[in-house]
Amino acid sequence: MVEVNFAKIRSEFPLLSKKVRGKNLVYLDSAATALKPWPVIERISHFYTYETANVHRGAHFLADQATGFYENSREVVRQFINAEAVEEIVFTKGATEAINLVAQSWGRANLKKGDEILLTEMEHHANIVPWQMIALELGAVIKVAKISDEGEIDLDDVRKKLSAKTKIFAFTACSNTLGTITDVTTMAQMAHKVGAKVLVDGAQIVANSAFDVRACDVDFFAFSGHKLFGPYGVGVLYGRKEILEAMPPYQGGGSMISSVTFEKTTYNQVPTRFEAGTPNIEGVIALTPAIQYVQKIGWGAIIQHEQELLKSATEKLSAIPQIRIIGQAKNKAPVLSFVLEGAHHSDVGQILDQENVAVRVGHHCTEPLMKRMGVTGTVRASFSVFNNQADVDSLVNGVIKAKGLLL
Ligand code: ALA
Repeated sequence: MVEVNFAKIRSEFPLLSKKVRGKNLVYLDSAATALKPWPVIERISHFYTYETANVHRGAHFLADQATGFYENSREVVRQFINAEAVEEIVFTKGATEAINLVAQSWGRANLKKGDEILLTEMEHHANIVPWQMIALELGAVIKVAKISDEGEIDLDDVRKKLSAKTKIFAFTACSNTLGTITDVTTMAQMAHKVGAKVLVDGAQIVANSAFDVRACDVDFFAFSGHKLFGPYGVGVLYGRKEILEAMPPYQGGGSMISSVTFEKTTYNQVPTRFEAGTPNIEGVIALTPAIQYVQKIGWGAIIQHEQELLKSATEKLSAIPQIRIIGQAKNKAPVLSFVLEGAHHSDVGQILDQENVAVRVGHHCTEPLMKRMGVTGTVRASFSVFNNQADVDSLVNGVIKAKGLLL
């Protein structure tokens, strides 16, 4: 593996050189959103400054150029997740919209009363609520696979709950709250055996590990740009081509049509059928430098660096008697949820904030998971390529300070 200079990588995130209340920022909230490196910031700024134009419409140089950049990003995403065809890549405004698109379009066309949708106890609200909405409307039934106390999906329970009635199994590749990396390939095989489709929420996995939609044999895969060092308001829905082609449109408007009369409208091919209206053009275009940024560092180096930070933070926090780590799966992304027994997570977060340590506190948009783990919320520290051991020590010192003040 080529030696990667992580100090140099840190210097490529301009927000880290900004002083907050006169002190350095310790950013441990990458699971909520990643900071942006210069190549992404510069790409957005360059597009607005010198290249602004709409896509798929104009008859002029700038419009053609913007369309070229936009479609090139589709190919970059295709390669990133190893999809077979560019038509399988739909740009959305985020992972949430991608899952809603599947629930509303595929769900409406394929679910009927009594059909089952299998989820897990570990899902983000974005992979629960869209299914509840369509299930309520159509009379479908939501089933939920259990997780263990360590935060691993119980595969025996998945097996038990999958049946001929299951039409789709929707689960996360990586828990945003516990960091658990799930066994996507095994669960996809189990679902396909009973004839169910498989949707994977990839929002948290994409910045921490490679994901290959063909090797994992999934039918749908959803992720957002902003957790991958990319822009807000842009995400991706991967869908197997033959499944997307059979799906009706999700939203109506410009671009998604083939022809319109007041009597009848015919729709465009995929993926354009699912991209109504002017999209987030600079967002899609800037996904390219975001993906290239990760690829330049390389997954091997990223995983090694982040796992070292996770291991060190877990060991140091576990040595504090009142700290309980929530989520002890064997295979974890660099996401560390914990509680300080006897103190409220919000108070811990506030004291960490005074120390310029940015973490997320609360239920992390996973209320059913909090209930399952027997807590109302956690403090969550998440690590990225730009973090270092000094950041881990700031977290640990901040927690020790919080303990002194609160207990
Ligand atoms: N889903 C994001 C998080 O985990 C926002 O914080």
